[in-house]
Amino acid sequence: MARSIVRWPARVAAVVSMFAAAGPASAQFRHGPRIGVVRSDSATIAWDTACSAADTLLYGTDALNQKATEATATTAHRITVQGLAPATAYQFQVNSCGGTSPVLAFTTAPTAGGQSFAFVSMADTRGKSDAEDLKGLSQGFKKILANAETQGGVFVMHVGDMFYGYNPDQSVMRTLYDKFKTATDGVAAKIPFLVNPGGHEMSPWKKGGAPATDWSTVELFREEFAQPKVLDEYAGTLFSWDYGDTHFVSIDTAHFDPKATTANHGIGELSTAEIEWLEKDLTDHESARFIFVFGHHHAWRQPDSKLFYLGSYTPLLRDAFWQMLEKHRVTAYVCGHEHRTIDTLGPPGGSTVVQWLNGNSGAPPDDPNEKPVYEYTVWAVTGDTATAKVLDDSGILQKQRIFQRRSATSSAPVPGKEATP
Ligand SMILES: [Fe+2]
Repeated sequence: MARSIVRWPARVAAVVSMFAAAGPASAQFRHGPRIGVVRSDSATIAWDTACSAADTLLYGTDALNQKATEATATTAHRITVQGLAPATAYQFQVNSCGGTSPVLAFTTAPTAGGQSFAFVSMADTRGKSDAEDLKGLSQGFKKILANAETQGGVFVMHVGDMFYGYNPDQSVMRTLYDKFKTATDGVAAKIPFLVNPGGHEMSPWKKGGAPATDWSTVELFREEFAQPKVLDEYAGTLFSWDYGDTHFVSIDTAHFDPKATTANHGIGELSTAEIEWLEKDLTDHESARFIFVFGHHHAWRQPDSKLFYLGSYTPLLRDAFWQMLEKHRVTAYVCGHEHRTIDTLGPPGGSTVVQWLNGNSGAPPDDPNEKPVYEYTVWAVTGDTATAKVLDDSGILQKQRIFQRRSATSSAPVPGKEATP
């Protein structure tokens, strides 16, 4: 069911295909160029190189006639170009250490409302051990990526647990990011690829071992993914953006803090600072047609689950978070962690907000005898409806749910259920 909702203008497509025919990026590029957050007036492009240099990004609409150059030499290149025109296709190319990337393209978000567009969410692609993930990410994940690329989405959001992780060895963590980026570079060259961290990539201790005493994994995530910063402490993990009159928020439920006194040191928790920021952000976007909030850990768990979740350690903050989503009539909280597609969990009295648990997008089942089910979600926004379509790794529709645009008042709560904590 391939669809293409947003297309590049013919002139950009022609330029891209012309340069693509020249062959792959030269050996200078370890990763990328990758497209990060694209707004109506800016876009972030990231690439990693073996050679340290101050690189140049060329970009423009009809020609590569604009230039952004880094101030200092680095191997982790992240440039955000500003002052772009809305709803406009840009081509770009990176020059690094004498090599050049192919000419790629992105399209800025519109400022006007009402557009039809799609986006993609996925989650939980880790293997069963670091040894497994160091060989490369799972075939199921690779199939999903290849399928997701054909859906015409304006971005992909991966809501966490990219690889097994849980490792205090920084060199192993760096190699795991390297494998993840290798698996996703192809998609990220064509579609903005965003990541919301899960516990596996943010917890630097081995399961059952002592917690680390520093924030090195938090810093590593920031370095690997050049995402926006609104609060210093949550750089790269807490931010929001818009596509026309649809608003998107990334919240950080995996904020590892070795000084936190709760059992999980911040993993699977929200903070007061985040909730206060969210209140302001949602208030500022009161007129949005739809609002989607992304986070790794689910707020409400299913009765048979033993996994920790946002209600495990800080239930009052979870309740405050959920009440805020209801107050601002958020369309859906899109999360992962459970490795199952579930959209029927919520507070005992029901809720106007749907918790959308993404399915498992590549992680192996815990029971080796169980046949893995790999799924992801394509969200098609058209007029007054947003349709969430759950696809398997071959793109076959498994289920769908239709959401109505936000209204001035809350709609009637839909029943939810949760196990007693
Ligand atoms: Fe998780």
